[in-house]
Amino acid sequence: MSNQSVSRRGFVGAAGAALSTVALNPHAALAQGIPVRPGGPRFWAEDDAYDALAKISFNENPYGPSAKALEAMNYAFKYSMRYGYPDGGVTQAIADHHGVPRNHLMLGAGSGEILEVVGLTYLGDGKKVIGVEPSYGQVYSHASGIDADAILLPLEDDSRQNIQRMVDATNRHYRDVGFVYLCNPNNPTGRTVTAAEIEYLLDNIPDDVPVLIDEAYHHFVRDPDYEASLKYAIEGRRVVIARTFSKIYGMAAIRIGFAIAPPEMISEMRVYSTGSVNVLAKWGAVASMEDTDAYDFVRRTTLRLRDQTLADLAGLGYECIPSETNFFMLDCRTPVAPIRRAFRERGVAVGRDFPPMLNHLRVSIGTEEEMGRFMNAFDDIRGSTVMNGSRG
Ligand SMILES: Cc1ncc(COP(=O)(O)O)c(C=O)c1O
Repeated sequence: MSNQSVSRRGFVGAAGAALSTVALNPHAALAQGIPVRPGGPRFWAEDDAYDALAKISFNENPYGPSAKALEAMNYAFKYSMRYGYPDGGVTQAIADHHGVPRNHLMLGAGSGEILEVVGLTYLGDGKKVIGVEPSYGQVYSHASGIDADAILLPLEDDSRQNIQRMVDATNRHYRDVGFVYLCNPNNPTGRTVTAAEIEYLLDNIPDDVPVLIDEAYHHFVRDPDYEASLKYAIEGRRVVIARTFSKIYGMAAIRIGFAIAPPEMISEMRVYSTGSVNVLAKWGAVASMEDTDAYDFVRRTTLRLRDQTLADLAGLGYECIPSETNFFMLDCRTPVAPIRRAFRERGVAVGRDFPPMLNHLRVSIGTEEEMGRFMNAFDDIRGSTVMNGSRG
């Protein structure tokens, strides 16, 4: 437990000298990795508890924004009080980076906003969304929040999405389908749909059915049969690609994502967009895309730690679903709810339940130190009554 519960007193003591020199310069503090706490002691206890956790539950990037993004965001603070301000050329920068015309883009406060805008745009008049379960549940919960239904298809035994079943369901319910949701790679399983399967899907459903392809984790994929689907949106298919700066670029709490879609779909959706992307997010996003060293570091380190953790778990006799993302699902062979609580008691936050896969624990790839804490906790828990009914 020693490195799991860094006491505030100990931490401040160690960092005291450095703090005094940077106390009036938060950016210098950030650059040195020293947290500067604004506003006095009110929230220290909660913050300390949160900070001490190994946070491997939400598929976040534990390294945060790149140094260049932090610098750009720090610069952009000078526009904080404005409505109209230079935005760093964010739309053009995203367009150039992805090789798409500007009129194919719409920004969102995270790709979560894009997913909801697609729901608001295409689920009126009793229309339904079709997708697999489990997948990124926000799409389905948002649909139910706006009184729309979802047609949920099961995954295959190997946790892959069955594209033929998706085609059949779309054709069978054609008149009622608002859009098809395809998360690729899928959250929570981490599995991909291949380029050939996407082509098959689009070739075998009616042209006018919108398809939302959520590529939040696309930067982590190694599978040679996978391909990003931007080209379909550029060609004019009724396809919306949702992307985010929350994952590989580490800006989850800053909130910026975007849609790539044919211009007429962008016009249909724009009515429902809040236009609430903030100035820091815009400048940070532009700098993130330029910082290829940070991108390479996050990708390389995440994949290395994922491979290592899966090998360590296999060594203990536990299987995981092969993942193409910054998370994986561990088959615990017993319901994971008590296991999750046992992890939490050991200072490790892991993923929630994903019905119907109630024996699978979703684990995000944190830092090396966090993954070490995860393995230590798992080793401890697997010998306890929580996992096998009798203390090992
Ligand atoms: C598959 C998927 N799509 C979209 C999102 C939303 O991300 P954000 O709103 O931070 O861009 C997430 C977040 O975890 C996700 O897992």
